Amino acid sequence: MKQVIARRDWLKQTSLALAASTGFIPSLFNGESRTPPPAGPIRLHANENPYGPSPQARAAMAAAITASNRYPWDQTTVLREKIAARYGLTQDAVLMGAGSSELLGLIASFAALKPGNMVCATPTFNLWWTAAQQQGLQVAEVPLTAEKVHDLPAMVQQVNTNTRLVYVCNPNNPTGTIVDHAALTRFVTAASQQALVLVDEAYLEYTDEPSLAPLLLNNKRLIIVKTFSKIYGLAGARIGYALAHPELTQQLGRLQPWINAGPSAVSVAGAIASLEDSGFVSSSRQQNASARAFTEAALKKAGLPFIPSNVNFLYYSLQSDQGNFLQKLADHQIRVGKFVEEKARWARLTIGTQAEMVSFTQVLQQHFTT
Ligand SMILES: Cc1ncc(COP(=O)(O)O)c(C=O)c1O
Repeated sequence: MKQVIARRDWLKQTSLALAASTGFIPSLFNGESRTPPPAGPIRLHANENPYGPSPQARAAMAAAITASNRYPWDQTTVLREKIAARYGLTQDAVLMGAGSSELLGLIASFAALKPGNMVCATPTFNLWWTAAQQQGLQVAEVPLTAEKVHDLPAMVQQVNTNTRLVYVCNPNNPTGTIVDHAALTRFVTAASQQALVLVDEAYLEYTDEPSLAPLLLNNKRLIIVKTFSKIYGLAGARIGYALAHPELTQQLGRLQPWINAGPSAVSVAGAIASLEDSGFVSSSRQQNASARAFTEAALKKAGLPFIPSNVNFLYYSLQSDQGNFLQKLADHQIRVGKFVEEKARWARLTIGTQAEMVSFTQVLQQHFTT
C-alpha cells in the first residue's frame, strides 16, 4: 500500500514537473481556465476567434487525445448527424474536411473535371483559386458594387454554358458585406440552371442571416461550405464541412480517399462540443460586436472610411495615410491584413479582443492625430 501511494505521489510530482517545464497546465483538461496565450504579436490578420476554443471544446479535445490511436469514423458520423440535424438534412448531405479550405479545393477539382470557367466576385476569398486554376479553370472576376457588395445581376450575366462553378462568399471576405437573402435565393436558383453554385458561409454565424441550407433539399447543384474555424474558434484544429444534396455529396465524395478521412479524433471531439456550446457562440458574438463598434468609432474619429461590418473583421481604406500606418502597426507587433485594393488602399482588419483593439486604436490615434 505504502509503495502504491509513494508511486502515485511520484507520478503526480513528475507530471506536474513536466507540465511546468512544457507550459502544459493540467487545467487544460477541465476546460475551466485556459493556459495564457504565449506572448507574441497581436493577431488581427487571419479572422480567427480570439476567445476560442470554447471551454467545453477544450475539455472534449483533451479527453479525445486518449482515443487517438483509433480511427474516428464513428464519432465523425455522429458529428455529421448533428450538423445535418441543424439544417433539417440527413448525414449523407454532409462532407467533412480538414478545414473548409480542403473542401474548396475538392470542389474546384470536381468542377475542373470538365474544362471551363468559374464566376467569382472580386475582391473575395480567393486563397483557393490557384488550386482551381492549376486544374484548368479560368476565373471570371466580377467587381463588387461601389458599396462592396456582390453584384449578383452582373455575376449572373457572366454565367454561360462554359461555366462550371459560381462562387458567392456570404458574408464576403474581405469586405464583411452580406447580400440580401431573397436576392441570393433567386440568384442561386437562376445560376444553378447552368452551373454548380458554391456559397461560402464561413462567417454567417456572426450575423442574423439564415443559411441557404433549406434550398439543398430541392437543388442538386448547390453546395454550401461552412467551417469551425471562425465563430467556433477552432481554426488550428482544421475542421470544416460541405452541405449538398446527397446525390451531389456522393459524387464529390468520390474525390476523397474515403469518407470521414480528413478530420482527426481530437478535431471531431472539439467540433461536437462546440456545436453544443451555444453560450460560447453567443458570448463570442457579443464581445466581437462590442469590440467592433469600439473600433469603428475610432476609425471614424481618425477620418478613415470603412464599410460597416456584419462580422469579425472590417474593411477600411488608408488612402489618406501620408505616412506608413501598416509599418507602424508592425513596429508595435500588431499584425493586420495587407492592401487588398492597391489603388484606394483598402485593407482588412480582424476584430480581436477589446484589449487588442485598444492597442490597435492607440497606434491609430497616435498616427493620425499627431
Ligand atoms: C470565406 C472563407 N472561407 C473559407 C475559409 C477557410 O477556412 P478554414 O479552411 O479554416 O475552414 C476562410 C478562412 O479565412 C474564409 O475566410
